[in-house]
Formats: sequence, structure tokens, C-alpha cells
Amino acid sequence: MAGLRRGIVFAAVALMFAAVMLPEVAAVRYLVGGNMGWSSNVNYTTWAQGKHFYNGDWLFFVYDRNQMNILEVNKTDFENCISDHPLHNWTRGAGRDVVPLNITKTYYFISGKGFCFGGMKVAIHVENPPPPPTSSPIRSDSPRWLSTFRSQIFVPTLFAVAAVWDSFLLLL
Ligand SMILES: *[C@@H]1O[C@H](CO)[C@@H](O)[C@H](O)[C@H]1NC(C)=O
Ligand SMILES: *[C@@H]1O[C@H](CO)[C@@H](O)[C@H](O)[C@H]1NC(C)=O
Ligand SMILES: *[C@@H]1O[C@H](CO)[C@@H](O)[C@H](O)[C@H]1NC(C)=O
Ligand SMILES: *[C@@H]1O[C@H](CO)[C@@H](O)[C@H](O)[C@H]1NC(C)=O
Repeated sequence: MAGLRRGIVFAAVALMFAAVMLPEVAAVRYLVGGNMGWSSNVNYTTWAQGKHFYNGDWLFFVYDRNQMNILEVNKTDFENCISDHPLHNWTRGAGRDVVPLNITKTYYFISGKGFCFGGMKVAIHVENPPPPPTSSPIRSDSPRWLSTFRSQIFVPTLFAVAAVWDSFLLLL
């Protein structure tokens, strides 16, 4: 009997959490270059190919802070690897920079210090998110914070809540 109750309570709480979390699932944080990160020897044209970047998504650049940087430039400077007057310098100093894609446009990123010439450049075409009712496909590059949140906070919280609820019901 307690097992059944626990099951029902667990399902109810899970649904409750799922409903609260659904709007959050849409935004994706892309680790630029995948496991290779922001480095030389990655073809970023290939990396970006087939991906859909939507307004509200994020880019996460992980790189050697002593060598590379991350600069947003215009199209001309992107094509010619000119880093003298970036539109935005996203370099914070830790080698781990997050860029919000909050404008629907094409973003152009390069690394200065000569690395652009070796191919450290990426153009990101940002689109408006598709309308919600058109069932959104599962986005493949799931943000790490989200899975961390799910496994380290969400699930344990769920169990804790269910356990407390269960003992509460047993008292009745
Ligand atoms: C990267 O790959 C694209 C095709 O996906 C190719 O056209 C381009 O030449 C490559 N760039 C470099 C620097 O190899
Ligand atoms: C990019 O910026 C440079 C220098 O500010 C400028 O000369 C060039 O015309 C700009 N290109 C575009 C496409 O805005
Ligand atoms: C970008 O900003 C970082 C941190 O403030 C700074 O150290 C670096 O010199 C800047 N680079 C350029 C090209 O402006
Ligand atoms: C986009 O994000 C940047 C950095 O957080 C912020 O400075 C800027 O105001 C934002 N732009 C829009 C249109 O929300």
C-alpha cells in the first residue's frame, strides 16, 4: 500500500516539476567545437553545419586563455581575419566565455593573435525560434547545466519530496 502511494506521489511530483521546467528546456548552450573546444585544427564551418541556432541559445567557448581569445567582428573583418576593431570582445580571461545569442542575425567570431588565419573563425546564423505548437524536435546538443541540474538537483529533490510526502501520508 505504501509502495503504491509512493508511486502515485512520485508520479504527481514528477509531473509538477516537468510542467514547471518545460519552458526552460528550449534554450540550448552549444559547446563550440564540441570536445575540441575553441582551438586550432577544428573546421568550424563543418561544426556549425546542420545546426540550428535560435535566438535565446548560448555559445560556450572553452580554450587556452594564454593563447586564444574570442572576438565578435563584422563580416568584412571575419573574412579578412582583422581583429583590430572588434564589435565585441567576449574574452573575460578565464578561457571559458559564454555568449548569448540574443539577436536574430549572423554573428561572426574569430580568435585574434593570428589564430583566425589558421581557421579559428565561426559564423553563426541565428534564427527566430520555431513557434511552440509545431512540436519542437529534440535538440541534440543538450546544455550541460541542464543535465547537471537534472541529475544532481532535480532527481534528488524529487526523491526527497516524495519521501517526505510519503511519511506525511503514513501519519494520516
Ligand atoms: C571546412 O569544411 C568545408 C566543408 O564543410 C570546406 O568547404 C572548407 O574548405 C573547410 N575549411 C578548411 C579551412 O579546411
Ligand atoms: C567592418 O568594419 C570595418 C572597420 O570598422 C569597416 O571598414 C567595414 O566596412 C565594416 N564592414 C561591414 C560589412 O560593416
Ligand atoms: C579583450 O578583453 C580582455 C579582458 O578584458 C583583454 O585582456 C584583451 O586585451 C582584450 N582584447 C582585445 C583584442 O581587445
Ligand atoms: C544581449 O546580451 C548582451 C550581453 O548579455 C546584452 O548586453 C544586450 O543588451 C542583449 N541584447 C538584447 C537585444 O537583449
